[in-house]
Amino acid sequence: MKGKPLYLDYQSSTPCSTRVLEAMEPYWSDYFANPSDRQHSDGIYACAASNVSRECLAELLGVDPTRLIFTSGATEANNLALLGYARARTAETGDKGHVITLSTEHLSVLEPLRKLQKEGFRLTELQPNSDGIISLDQFEKAFQKDTFLVSIMMANNEIGVLQPIREIALRCKYNSALLHCDASQALGNIPFNIDTLDIDLLTISAHKIYGPKGIGALIKKKNIRIQPLQWGGGQEQGLRPGTLPLPLVVGFATAAKIAIEDIHTNIHKYKFLRDTLLNDLTNKIHGLKINGSLKSRLPNNLNITVPNVRGKKMNSLLRKHISCSSGSACSNGAPSHVLLALGRSLQEVECSLRLSLGRYTTEEDVSQISDFLTDAIFKSKI
Ligand SMILES: Cc1ncc(COP(=O)(O)O)c(C=O)c1O
Repeated sequence: MKGKPLYLDYQSSTPCSTRVLEAMEPYWSDYFANPSDRQHSDGIYACAASNVSRECLAELLGVDPTRLIFTSGATEANNLALLGYARARTAETGDKGHVITLSTEHLSVLEPLRKLQKEGFRLTELQPNSDGIISLDQFEKAFQKDTFLVSIMMANNEIGVLQPIREIALRCKYNSALLHCDASQALGNIPFNIDTLDIDLLTISAHKIYGPKGIGALIKKKNIRIQPLQWGGGQEQGLRPGTLPLPLVVGFATAAKIAIEDIHTNIHKYKFLRDTLLNDLTNKIHGLKINGSLKSRLPNNLNITVPNVRGKKMNSLLRKHISCSSGSACSNGAPSHVLLALGRSLQEVECSLRLSLGRYTTEEDVSQISDFLTDAIFKSKI
């Protein structure tokens, strides 16, 4: 649309793709019945449709369909995994043990873990290296006798860095701790297999992969017991009661199918566009800092700190032309805890931008973005 800012915030959310909208369409009004209601043919049809979508999503992820628990998104899946597992374990053993995470995790991981801390569990929040990646040495040393849970994300939502999940999982197994991994930024942007990586609990979300908002999933190994966060009907094996939102379930499976089918083409495209943008910006902006490792990173993410500018002015000039963000959409405007953990000052954080590319970003967009950015930077120089 003419006059609309260029959208460069695909890590915050993505638009529903046409194929997803088309797949969901019949389930809003034609086939609207409750999938838990198997007393009539409408309900049986809805139940069958939800089963087909569950099986499709499970097959794409390489897991048994019974391992999938639909939730309202990644936030709920993270809460269910962390609070649910820790509390179920304590109910069985009577012990409140120790949990490890990284200080750059999404708030939907950090906040439930801090809640557990208030309930008496012990929590270690490790600082990453200055490139945003975990230090495996430090990680090994952080295990205690009663460490029972580790939560480390696959790809960071602000700086896009990829954590060495296989190496992390190996150390978890060695220390008899479960590994929870928030993969909501990784799905569709990098290929991975849950079981090859040996992840016990994995979180995903549909609106990060051109699917609908309001649905995500927790994938768990079969023998792991978790406590529900709410009670009611017995849906989702009693772990997430409530009527299943059938159109969203169908949309989620369709979005995942497209994302996984097109993954290699998209990775190639994103890398090319991201690197073009980065080269252009480094040539034009003296002293530009890149936040997070470039080597181990999502192909569609760039996070930069611009030197010697008034951050607020740069941001307000930029927003007329580009929709991008300076941190996570879930941070309520607080300075990015991720950039602070990398050692950036508050002033630098204010002059930082996350540029995330997506399916509809073009070469022409990238060249315009570079012009808009250099212009805004020039006009806000200190
Ligand atoms: C890594 C990560 N985890 C969790 C979330 C929360 O996802 P949802 O909006 O599906 O609750 C997000 C979204 O911003 C995210 O990027």
